[in-house]
Amino acid sequence: MSNNINRRGFLKQAGAVVAAGSLPLSLVEIAFGKDSPANFSFAYISDSHITHIKGNEFVRNWDRGLKRAVAEANLLDPRPDFIFYGGDIAQLGKPEELDHGLEILSGLRGDVHYVMGEHDYYLDLGDYWKKQLGPDHYSFDHKGVHFVVLNSILTYDDWTNNKWPTAAERMHQMARLDNPQGSPFMVGDAQRDWLKQDLDKVSKDTPVVVFSHSPIQKIHKGWNFWTDDAEQVQALLKPFSKVTVIYGHVHQIQYNQIGNISFHSAMATAWPWPYPSTYRQVESYLPRLTVEMNRANPFFERDATGWQFINLHTGNVDMSYMLPGNTNRVVAFDTATGKPVDTRYQAVANRIPPQVHY
Ligand SMILES: [Fe+2]
Ligand SMILES: [Fe+2]
Repeated sequence: MSNNINRRGFLKQAGAVVAAGSLPLSLVEIAFGKDSPANFSFAYISDSHITHIKGNEFVRNWDRGLKRAVAEANLLDPRPDFIFYGGDIAQLGKPEELDHGLEILSGLRGDVHYVMGEHDYYLDLGDYWKKQLGPDHYSFDHKGVHFVVLNSILTYDDWTNNKWPTAAERMHQMARLDNPQGSPFMVGDAQRDWLKQDLDKVSKDTPVVVFSHSPIQKIHKGWNFWTDDAEQVQALLKPFSKVTVIYGHVHQIQYNQIGNISFHSAMATAWPWPYPSTYRQVESYLPRLTVEMNRANPFFERDATGWQFINLHTGNVDMSYMLPGNTNRVVAFDTATGKPVDTRYQAVANRIPPQVHY
């Protein structure tokens, strides 16, 4: 897809999947009924990790990733109905970082809905973020779809309030991977009670789309690719016929299906995390349906970062991933198989093998 992204081009590309017809298996079954009362699209940008150095200096690469996503989202024609921001605007939760990120994001044309990330939260427990952006969990209806935003990066009160001498130390601890001093994320009792009440008012055949920062599934605990009360949240979503959960945080492409719920991750505009399996050289922690994205050029700092355009036009969720300096990827619904497929890299023979690093 060219930089000037348009829906017709997108659909043409999605159509090619059906024509090819030979793509096997078994990806995500989704999500929106073809009789959805209105078709639309939205853009999704996540994980910019704006990092303050000193004064008005910020890490330039992370600024660039976000600026590029904003510029590309503004080129979409026809316009997406709105834009989601998936969390981790900041790296260490500082007001300077949130302000700088929000200033870049203010260049977006259209309404933006925000999700809280752990890097936005664990310095001041979300105070500054909420002051700028409002509540950290909410819902709204749009063209027959019920959208829910959750703050999924909370953890046990004791860890949050009693364990660390300073707020900065708490933030640093939560920002690390493989940290035995860390603590698993959760949605928590209060928000789950709110969610239950919110969903009680929604008819069970209404498509529901949930946005969270961490995956509402258990992938890899050491990296907090994990939500501790995932099963309890999933249980609240189970009565609905069409449910999609879209999350940030993992900085890579993942997709999965658990019962009636399809899960899609959002790309980061900052850096890519390697897949846990390639990093550890041990058994895969990935969701079963994930096809790992190509890492064609590990020496290109923007490789395997990006953002995506989520198209509801076909009556299904089609995810188009924009990858700077790399081949864009599409996970689109294939009417022949009744399942979404990755248009280029579904077949094993088409994948670029994992690279060996020193
Ligand atoms: Fe992140
Ligand atoms: Fe995160």
